[in-house]
Formats: sequence, C-alpha cells, structure tokens
Amino acid sequence: MNMVLLGPPGAGKGTQAKVLSRDLGIPHISTGDMLRESVKNRTELGQKAQHHMAAGDLVPDELVIAIVKERLEKSDVEKGFILDGFPRTLRQAEMLDASLAGIEKGLDLVLYFKTSLDTSIARLSGRRVCEKCGANFHVKNIPTKQEGVCDYCSGKLYQRKDDSKETIKTRWSVYERDTEPLIRYYFRKGTLKEVSGDLDVDGLNRILMDIFREESLI
Ligand code: AP5
Repeated sequence: MNMVLLGPPGAGKGTQAKVLSRDLGIPHISTGDMLRESVKNRTELGQKAQHHMAAGDLVPDELVIAIVKERLEKSDVEKGFILDGFPRTLRQAEMLDASLAGIEKGLDLVLYFKTSLDTSIARLSGRRVCEKCGANFHVKNIPTKQEGVCDYCSGKLYQRKDDSKETIKTRWSVYERDTEPLIRYYFRKGTLKEVSGDLDVDGLNRILMDIFREESLI
C-alpha cells in the first residue's frame, strides 16, 4: 500500500505513521526526520536545510525532491510505503506522480489529518522526542513513565527547536500557503480521505484501519 499522510504541523502524522509502519510492515518515510538527521550529521544537505527548518519555512523543493527520489529507489518500498510530510508543495506532488509512474507505481491513498491551530500549538509545544530512538511523547497527552526519559530505550528526551509557539505559527502559515492546495489536488484525483486529527491515537488508528479495509488495501 502506497500512502501519503497530509496535514498541518502537529496533526499527528508522524505518530500514526510509526504505528502503521509497525502494523503494516511498510517503511515510514519522513522528510522531516531525514532532514533533521542530515542537520545532526552536518552533511551538505543539512547545512543547506538548517536555517529554513529553524525558521519554520520549507526547505527548497529541489533538495527535498532529490532525497525522496533516492529513498523511493530502495528495495524496502516494494510492498509499499508511508510518506509523512512529503509532498508539501504542488511541485513536489507532481514530481512524486512522475517518479512513481516511472517505476509503474501510484498512490493508493492520501490521508488528510484535519486539525486546528490551537490543537497544533498545544501538541507541539508539549512534544518531547527521544534523541536516541526518535520516539515521540507529549508532556500531558502521552507522558513518559519517568520525566525526560524515553520509555522504549531510556534515551534522553529533547524539545525540537521549531516547536516554539512563534515558529509553530510560521509553520502553520507556510502550511496554509504551500501545502493546503494539495487537498484539492488529491481530491480531484480521487485518492483523498479526510480524517480527524483531533482523535486520540488509538481512536484514529482504528478509523484508518477501517478505511484500509473498506478500500480493500489490507
Ligand atoms: P516535519 O518534521 O515534517 O514537521 P511537521 O509537518 O510540521 O509535522 P510535525 O512533526 O510537527 O507534526 P506531526 O503531524 O507529525 O505530529 P506528531 O505525530 O509528531 O518537518 C519539519 C521541517 O522540515 C519543516 O518545517 C520544513 O522546514 C522541513 N521539511 C520537511 N518536509 C519537507 C518537505 N517535503 N518540503 C520542504 N521542507 C520540508 O505529533 C505532535 C505531538 O502531538 C507529539 O507530541 C505527539 O505525541 C502528540 N500527538 C500525536 N498524535 C496525537 C493524538 N492523536 N492525540 C494527542 N496527542 C497526539
């Protein structure tokens, strides 16, 4: 199953993608995670991407398109993939269509996680991420057993630099300007399904599994 998770910052895309990847046995491809890894490793891409990310702006299309193209050539996407945070512009969406057509694939589903700016701010300002395994927590909604320590690997938790209230607002405006038009793009193609990003993690997961069954994708 080839799917895209679309939605504003903090809608819960990454959280669901991790659960779905585990349950469906297909890779979770997050451009945000790939870019953060490049920044951490101080690669050329990381150095070019860093200031855009810190400001809450998008990294230029050509840089992101190149890493996704390379990723989709790996053999583990044979059974399917979950794209999280890509595409984010019409140009990226068109490139994705062209790339998939080139390898005789297509998108089965685009899941649009709808939520509000208030929910986004509440979630992102409380988000904590494990520096070792990348697991996501939330100080109130999804607390760890021990404060500041990952439940899965005992790694140290940190707060993303772009999760400050001001940068969340910038990311939200960028989303409305550049990414929201993709809702119409995929609606017209007949691949879009809207779900409420406001549901709790398990409730939303049940709804997604129902959609997969209805669409005969599992
Ligand atoms: P990226 O990492 O993709 O950030 P984002 O899209 O802003 O998404 P988030 O990770 O903030 O939100 P999410 O929806 O995944 O929520 P999550 O599940 O983590 O991108 C970062 C930056 O990289 C961009 O700003 C840009 O600069 C660059 N970039 C990336 N892709 C790009 C592209 N294609 N083109 C150009 N630039 C690109 O959940 C958030 C919090 O809420 C967590 O604490 C979680 O525990 C909690 N939570 C999740 N679900 C629930 C729930 N159902 N109920 C209660 N709490 C929940």
